[in-house]
Parts: sequence; structure tokens; C-alpha cells
Amino acid sequence: VSKTVSSFELVLKGRQPHQALTNWLYGELCSAIVDGRLSAGSRLPGSRDFAAQYGISRGTVVNVFERLQAEGYVSCRVGRGTRVSEGIRLTVPSATNPLCQPSYIRRAASAYKRPEVFVDWVVFKGRRPFQMSDPAVREFPSRIWGGIAARHGRRFPSWLREEDDGRGYSPLRNAIAQYVALSRGVKCDADQVVIVSGVQQALDLLLRLLVKKGDPVWTEDPGYFGACIALRNAGAKIIPVPVDGQGLSVSAGIKLCPKASGVLLTPGHQFPLGMTMSLERRIEVLQWASSAGAFIIEDDYDSVYRFAEQPVGALQGLDRNSNVIFVGSFNKLLFSSLRLGYIVLPPALVDVFVGHRRQTDFHTLSLDQAVLCDFIVEGHFGRHLRRMRDLYASRLAVMIDAGHHYLKGLLQISGVQAGLYTAAFLQNGMTSREAEAAATARGIETRALDRFTLRRKDPKGLLLGFAAHDEKAIRQGLGGLAAALGG
Ligand SMILES: Cc1ncc(COP(=O)(O)O)c(C=O)c1O
Repeated sequence: VSKTVSSFELVLKGRQPHQALTNWLYGELCSAIVDGRLSAGSRLPGSRDFAAQYGISRGTVVNVFERLQAEGYVSCRVGRGTRVSEGIRLTVPSATNPLCQPSYIRRAASAYKRPEVFVDWVVFKGRRPFQMSDPAVREFPSRIWGGIAARHGRRFPSWLREEDDGRGYSPLRNAIAQYVALSRGVKCDADQVVIVSGVQQALDLLLRLLVKKGDPVWTEDPGYFGACIALRNAGAKIIPVPVDGQGLSVSAGIKLCPKASGVLLTPGHQFPLGMTMSLERRIEVLQWASSAGAFIIEDDYDSVYRFAEQPVGALQGLDRNSNVIFVGSFNKLLFSSLRLGYIVLPPALVDVFVGHRRQTDFHTLSLDQAVLCDFIVEGHFGRHLRRMRDLYASRLAVMIDAGHHYLKGLLQISGVQAGLYTAAFLQNGMTSREAEAAATARGIETRALDRFTLRRKDPKGLLLGFAAHDEKAIRQGLGGLAAALGG
């Protein structure tokens, strides 16, 4: 039995600002039919009424009705008007009810395990101390970047794929080869450089290429959580190796697993404790890797920011046996959403790596690479790094100075003067997690150091970002932190 639907009964959702009228009306009518608000046999309002009610032309309504008819949602007969087809008996289960979801989604959802490091990982909305994910984006010369982007947008063919053989936009690879040679002492030419979206993608691609299921790989303990995630995804057996004041203890690694396939290191600025790997340890790890035939992945994510002394050159610069793969990122140096980084590969690994990478995303976005290239070549990158080095040094100095004032007896900020964030050690008897939770309760973002440990016991400390926060925010944040820690 058919029933009549008046135009007043049919409530349609408002149109999105950039949505075409026809698409909107078509989408709304389809959903009304599919989810049963317009039942089989019911009559749609006349095209004239519809047009008047929604302030659209009758032609648009007629077009949409014709499309719905062609697709079988409605039928149209003279004298009966436009009606929802009798054959439509769709009951679409509610997407919000997990019991109604297809079993493949339920299987995926129950198999997916959130990396442990992110459990209870609170991220506040808006910038507040002591978030550590961003550099000082407000200081970024966005007009210059925008101008270069607009120029490349207009010169469409200049950055098309011809310039990219899978390793990345070749003028950018040249610029990076020069930059890492000059500022990090890396030995390479542009042919060894491959552009990726950042350190995380580099680790993921490299480990899936270099490691077979169950292969043992050393990693720093405490260390970069993203490295553990990539190792687990590659099926590696993680061998946590303790770090001390000189960086990773190579002798401990040799005791634990002399035949490991490789090691992941942050020698320039250890994550999360901040020290630089000593020359003695660098030589030891190179000797071990060379005799074990192992790889060393050198993650150089923010090593250019060393404030009290000159940055120490890359481990790769000391390597004579192609053991070191050097990985760097612009995401921490420019802005996090950029997603551009690079790998410097031993020459003999380049073709294999490029073939392997082609199986995932072929190559990184060309336009962004062209913009970054000009940003470097025209000198803006160097200028920005120098400005940021001064700014971050002064923000860290404020943090250390105000830390003495507010946090005496509660939290001791590390003496390492480098990077975008700093470790700080608790003196009030709290564990890392207790301190993090107390800070979170006061709206202050910190990271418990024990999130980054594997076997090692809780270092009882917090990681505090300073690069993105001005002096006032740092002082206020430290005041709040002191209250949270019982001051
Ligand atoms: C040690 C370390 N390596 C790598 C990364 C991530 O680099 P990217 O953003 O280039 O993937 C981070 C980010 O916090 C990091 O701390």
C-alpha cells in the first residue's frame, strides 16, 4: 500500500559549503531511501514543491529524480508521481553498532594492538606546555614557503615525475647531499640519497628490507618508541641494550647478542636522554658492525640543534665499510605536517632499496619536494636553522633557569643543551607515570620517561618540550608543574 509523503515530512540535512546542489540532493535522497525514511512505495514530493522548499531550481530536482530512476531507486509513472521502487528493501545496519559490522572489520579491530607506548597517551588540544611534537611553527617563514609553493604551482611541469627515478626529486637530492656533507659530515653523493616521508617511514622500509622474521636487532634502552614499533612490524627480535652517559653500551650489546643483524641508534642526540654518543663508543660500534656484518641505522632526527657546543658529526662520516645507513628528517626542523625526510644509503644498497620502496608508495609527493628544494637552495633553510638554534637555546635557558626557581627538590632538568625537548629527573619520590598523571590532571602535557624503556627500570623522569613555547608559557607551565608535583 503506497503512502504519500509531503515535502514537509522529508527533512534533508543542510548542504556543505562546497557541495554541488545536485550531489547534495542526490546523496540525501539516496540515504533517505536506503535507511528507510522513505519506504518502498512511498511517494516523493513533486519536483515543483521540492524546488520551492529548498530554494533550488526545478531543473536540478528533475535531474536528480531522473538519476535516481536510472539507478532503480525510484520509478516514475504518469499519474502516480515519483515513488520509491518496490524492490528496495535495503536495511543498512547501523555503522555505530559493532555487532552489525562485517566480520572482517571486527577481526581487524580485535587483532589490532595499540603500541603500548601510546596507552593513556593524553594529547591536549591547542598548544600548551610542554608539548613536544612540534618545533616553533609560529616562527616558520610561511610567506616565503607559500611564495615558493605558488611559483611551483604555476610552473606545473617543473616538478613532474621525470625528475624522479624513485629516489626523489633530483635537485632536492643534490641539495640534501650538500647539506648533510657540510653540516653533519656525512660522506655521500646525491645518488645515495632517497627521499621519504620522514624517519618513521625510513625505519619501516629499511627494517622490512633488512630483517627477516626473528632476526635479533639491538635497540637503545631507553630509546625511540618509533624504532620499536618499526622493529616489531618487521618481525625483528628486539634486543634492548642499555645506554649510559656515553650512549649505547656496545660491550653490553655484545654480551647480550654478539650476532645481531643490526642496531638502531640516535648517536647525535640520544632519544630520550639527550646525550651524544662518545667517540670511543662510535668506534666500538663501527668495529662490532664491521666484524658482525651488521647494519647501523643512524637516526639523526634533530642533531643540528646543539646549543652549548658544535654539533658532533655523524657516525656515518667515520664508517669505512658501508655499515651505516643515515636517516634524517625535515619534520622536526621545519614543521611536523611537512612529512619529508631522507635516507643516505650505501651505494650498493640503492637499487635494491628503490625496488623495495616501489612496492609501497612509489615515491614522495613531488611538489613538496620541489618547494623544499628551493627553500634550501635559496638560503632560507640555513637562515631558519640559525634563527631557531638561537631561539631554542634561549627557551631552554629560560626552562633551566625557571626550573631552578619553581622545581627545586621536585624535578631536576637535565644539563644537556640540545634538541627540542629535554629530560628532567624526579626528586620527589614519584614514579614517571605518577608524575605524568599529576601533570595531566593540571592540563600540562609531559611524557613519562618509562614509556620509552624496554627492560630498564623506571628512570623516574619526564620529557618536556620547550621549542614551541615562549618564555611566558614556559614559566607558567613550570609553576603548574611544580604544583602538580607537590611543590
Ligand atoms: C628519535 C626520533 N626519531 C624520529 C622521529 C620521527 O621522525 P619523523 O617525523 O621524521 O618520522 C622522532 C619524533 O619524535 C624522534 O624523536
